[in-house]
Amino acid sequence: MPLPPDDPELKEVERIVRPPRIPWDDEEPDPEATTYTAAVHGPDPVPSWVITEDAARQHELGILKTGKEADVYVVRRTLGERVNLLAAKRYRDFEDRTFRNDARYRRRRTGDARIDRAVDQGTRVGMGFRAMLWVNTEFETLGRLWAAGASVPYPVQQLDHEVMLEYIGDEWSAAPRLVAAPLGKAEIRDLYEQAVALLQTMVRCGVVHGDLSPYNLLVWQGRLVMIDLPQAVDPLAHADGLALLQRDVDNVCAWFERKGVETRRGDLLADLLSLLF
Ligand SMILES: Nc1ncnc2c1ncn2[C@@H]1O[C@H](COP(=O)(O)OP(=O)(O)O)[C@@H](O)[C@H]1O
Ligand SMILES: [Mg+2]
Repeated sequence: MPLPPDDPELKEVERIVRPPRIPWDDEEPDPEATTYTAAVHGPDPVPSWVITEDAARQHELGILKTGKEADVYVVRRTLGERVNLLAAKRYRDFEDRTFRNDARYRRRRTGDARIDRAVDQGTRVGMGFRAMLWVNTEFETLGRLWAAGASVPYPVQQLDHEVMLEYIGDEWSAAPRLVAAPLGKAEIRDLYEQAVALLQTMVRCGVVHGDLSPYNLLVWQGRLVMIDLPQAVDPLAHADGLALLQRDVDNVCAWFERKGVETRRGDLLADLLSLLF
């Protein structure tokens, strides 16, 4: 499959697409792995496919992607014949790394003046809070969107700096990102319609992704699935919400336009805004 030249992370995508198959039988459960954590879990009712029993065994199949903020692992949880594949997104040590340092995102407030000040000042404690804010935002936003029927992975659980999500893909291959998915013309057109529907649901939920691009959209069996939401903001409550919405729309439309889809992005943005007011 020829891959487009504009993806700086293509090597990783290739690695993602064919992870090694690990035999199921001779594997030991990973004693370190956290199985289901009921404390912070996704929207109720928890889908019946999620294995929540304490007796579950869990095993890490490997790393999907390393990033500057988080690493994503594929985890297999089993209970008897039942199997869950999960994507565990583990945020890095918070003190000594730079978040997406777009000052725009930092205007999000915790509601506690002392914490907000620490965040602004970038103290060690402040950085920790800022990081937790991002992890919580990703988990909470995914839950809200999922409950509204948006095409996002079900957020299974959150434990400290790790969010565990429904994994999009199968034992053989993770879902490719939109930039790297092999697609025909009709499929691209259909995916565009799905992207529009996704944006509409998001706006109705009061969510702007804030970093939406073909790198944060996966394609699996004809379905477009959005991921990577730690920087999500409210379009109206956040000072730059509308500007970020416009940027998201531009990023997505520009890609589809390059693929020959007529997007009329001005109209799309106007439609989305009309859902807000
Ligand atoms: N639920 C998931 N199912 C399958 N693959 C995933 C899932 N979540 C993340 N990935 C893979 O991991 C990569 C990084 O995840 P992402 O949430 O975009 O984090 P970041 O871009 O901040 O590193 C994605 O591009 C995708 O390839
Ligand atoms: Mg991403």
